[in-house]
Amino acid sequence: AHFNAAHRLYNKKWSDKKNNKVFGKCNYPNYHGHNYELVVSITGKINSNTGYVMDMGELKNIIKNEIEERLDHKNLNLDIPYFSKVIPSAENICIYIYDILRGNIDKEFRLSVKLYETPRNFVEYSGN
Ligand code: NI
Repeated sequence: AHFNAAHRLYNKKWSDKKNNKVFGKCNYPNYHGHNYELVVSITGKINSNTGYVMDMGELKNIIKNEIEERLDHKNLNLDIPYFSKVIPSAENICIYIYDILRGNIDKEFRLSVKLYETPRNFVEYSGN
């Protein structure tokens, strides 16, 4: 899946100088955007009635309704309450997405979420 969103990396506990030193351009006060690419992997047994592990249409709808609708064209710092307390780094966005999907996908399946912030820069999370 895909979404566009803006963010700013900033630690409220630090001075502007330290934020600049640690986050550089990512600390720019007026935010900046990314074209995020999201790869969701489901692992599990094949259902003998369907031949599927999981219905791709069902997974697509969950991702659309729970992730894209929530994050696409948003300012993550300002529009998503979770990121008022958590720095919206790729790592933390990936965990946020994982936790939402985990709550919507049957526990019998293993779930892994990969989030590309740029074509060459991605993080991956599969719980714990
Ligand atoms: Ni960024």
